Amino acid sequence: MRIAVTGANGLLGGEAVRLLGEAGGHAVHALGRGPCRLPAGPYSYGSAELGSGELEAALQAFRPTHVLHCGAATDVDGCERDPLMAWRANVDGTAEVARACRALGARLVAVSTDYVFDGEAGPYAEEDAPNPRGAYARSKRCGEEAALLLAPGCAVARVAVVYSGRPGAKATFASQVVEKLSRGEPVRAFSDQRVSTTLAASGAAMCLELLLETAYAGVLHVSDAAVLDRVAFAAAVARRFGLAGQIIPVRTAEVQLPAPRPLRAGLKVARAAALLRNKPLSLEAALDRFHAEWQARRAAP
Ligand SMILES: NC(=O)c1ccc[n+]([C@@H]2O[C@H](COP(=O)([O-])OP(=O)(O)OC[C@H]3O[C@@H](n4cnc5c(N)ncnc54)[C@H](OP(=O)(O)O)[C@@H]3O)[C@@H](O)[C@H]2O)c1
Repeated sequence: MRIAVTGANGLLGGEAVRLLGEAGGHAVHALGRGPCRLPAGPYSYGSAELGSGELEAALQAFRPTHVLHCGAATDVDGCERDPLMAWRANVDGTAEVARACRALGARLVAVSTDYVFDGEAGPYAEEDAPNPRGAYARSKRCGEEAALLLAPGCAVARVAVVYSGRPGAKATFASQVVEKLSRGEPVRAFSDQRVSTTLAASGAAMCLELLLETAYAGVLHVSDAAVLDRVAFAAAVARRFGLAGQIIPVRTAEVQLPAPRPLRAGLKVARAAALLRNKPLSLEAALDRFHAEWQARRAAP
């Protein structure tokens, strides 16, 4: 198969390119922004700005049979400050990917977020009504609609609070917990934000299975299985890494944040658990894998 992955320098896209390289047997085109930051592997790489038409042209040139669309503006507060940027990347960018897939007859999985929900009554199932708040959330919801409208038969895979211990992976809440507690610094964590989390390797594996091995159409939640507040998540990370130290609970309203945060969020994953061979991970299994990734990263030259 000819598989294109957008957002390839990112947490989820990078894992998808790695997994495809390990599986072998496919022609893989990784699409990111700027220079390639992935480890060397059996893939080609191209740079394309989301929402500029460059991505559509790059896909037309590669002619994929399957596309995993992970590229997105993911800085929630950055999107709030610059909603035009959020729209270009997350709506125009997804629309151009979906247009290219439609023209080429390629199967599309577009990745989205639990932020499409308002966080009044989570965890949410696929059929629950979105009610996005804030520029990032709105742009991602509009991106979902663009994919579903322009690439009929596509799937929208929602994840939440993505983290990875791989070498080169960008800083996340989970990695900051490990780094700060290792340095003896306290960690501040929101006690009133209930979330799902997603180990990037697991989310990427579910997205790829959805893309390559199913014809599932519509929304599917592919996060890890647990729903917990960020203090509990930080404490679980600390326990798994054998780190003592202070986790300071903070309420969201105490902090001036540009963008609203859904408080009672989280994703129900029963449908993915029933559909896919790669199951949503328990908290313990996800943290075991995160810990193993972290150990391998420390051992890397
Ligand atoms: N990270 C999370 O906690 C989270 C939570 C819920 C849902 N999601 C969704 O999961 C998907 C994958 O995100 P991720 O976790 O892998 O985040 P990520 O690490 O931020 O990856 C996103 C990638 O998109 C690229 N990108 C951003 N703006 C771009 C632009 N204008 N043109 C071209 N490329 C651009 C980024 O490039 P650079 O590396 O150059 O910045 C980055 O590599 C996204 O759809 C996101 O909305 C993520």
